[in-house]
Amino acid sequence: MSKQSLLGLVPSMGWNSWNTFTWDINEQLIREVADRFVTEGYKEAGYEYIVIDDCWSLKQRDAEGRLVPDPEKFPSGMKTLADYIHGKGLKFGMYSCVGTHTCAGYPGSFEHEFQDAEQLAEWGVDFLKYDYCFKPRHISGELLYKRMSLALKNCGRNILFSACNWGEDGVYQWIRESGAHMYRSTGDIQDNWDSIKKLALSQLDKQCYTGSFCHNDLDMLVVGMYGGSNNDFIGRIGGCSDVEYRTHFALWSLMGSPLMIGCDIRSANQATKDILLNPNLIAINQDPESRGAYRIKPEPQWFHTDEVFMLVRVLADGDLAIGFFNLSDGQREISLQFWDLGLPFASGFSLSLKDCWTNEELGVYTERFAPTVPAHDCLVVRAKLVRR
Ligand code: GAL
Repeated sequence: MSKQSLLGLVPSMGWNSWNTFTWDINEQLIREVADRFVTEGYKEAGYEYIVIDDCWSLKQRDAEGRLVPDPEKFPSGMKTLADYIHGKGLKFGMYSCVGTHTCAGYPGSFEHEFQDAEQLAEWGVDFLKYDYCFKPRHISGELLYKRMSLALKNCGRNILFSACNWGEDGVYQWIRESGAHMYRSTGDIQDNWDSIKKLALSQLDKQCYTGSFCHNDLDMLVVGMYGGSNNDFIGRIGGCSDVEYRTHFALWSLMGSPLMIGCDIRSANQATKDILLNPNLIAINQDPESRGAYRIKPEPQWFHTDEVFMLVRVLADGDLAIGFFNLSDGQREISLQFWDLGLPFASGFSLSLKDCWTNEELGVYTERFAPTVPAHDCLVVRAKLVRR
């Protein structure tokens, strides 16, 4: 076995401070999130990383060139905070940037990569999100991700490497080889329906670029935010309905995106928890084979719109996860011919369907299943092959 154990086999699950809190972060908040992870069932459901995003450090490095946590926000220091999180059986994530500065203007890791990786290891960090702002123009992003990847892999600690270059510079062509375990493929999510829809649609034809050890990251979840961000760009004027949040979670789950919660879980309502903690959706997302999903466009052909489609994931145990997505503004019947799944009538098999949201057994179907799906909603089923 190598000096590092395997990271990134399946998409990461956790919480990130950015969507709701942006610059307004401190150690008390992070501790409370860790507490809730345990008491509210997030840890048990599989969420493990608690990640501090941008704005955690002072604006200057110290005399030795080290990053310094802001003593007002993190008076006990990062090692103590990491110990607290580890004490709960969870993992600790932090943030830096390929450039000279982070997006919010704090020091970035450019030309400090190996020093910073060692520092993170000393603090007990398990996850690094690595952003793309203030990148010097004369150097390629590809090279800078390779640098930090090497630094992390040799810092003496298992640190999951989360690249965040927003899908720029042909990232699909080089990110896996660079060593990153996940990579942001889109610009920043906003807490509104249009943003969710736009991000998901933009990655439907990129499912061949996701899988174990390098997952396509559609950005942190906005489930449960209801417009409650202190950052106007993300969401003060936004917010979605619970149905839309549910569809958002189903898209991210089926598309194999990391599931990083972005709402304030300390005040999450029951609807939010039911979405984020749904064991069937999580099991699809965390399927050990981590295959991308394929898209099927429904019949009739003339009724095609990109906003109505099925996503199918081949699961390790032979089941299929099938999502019927209606992102359009009107109710739609979405018709699935089993032929399109590779299951012709002559196979002798039918499909036994279970509704992943409600756990309801929907029955055994042969050749065709055609649910009616309301606007912005989805039905996700787990389909088992049964002999006729
Ligand atoms: C953006 C990134 C966001 C957040 C922010 C911090 O570039 O996409 O997720 O990390 O920077 O400034």
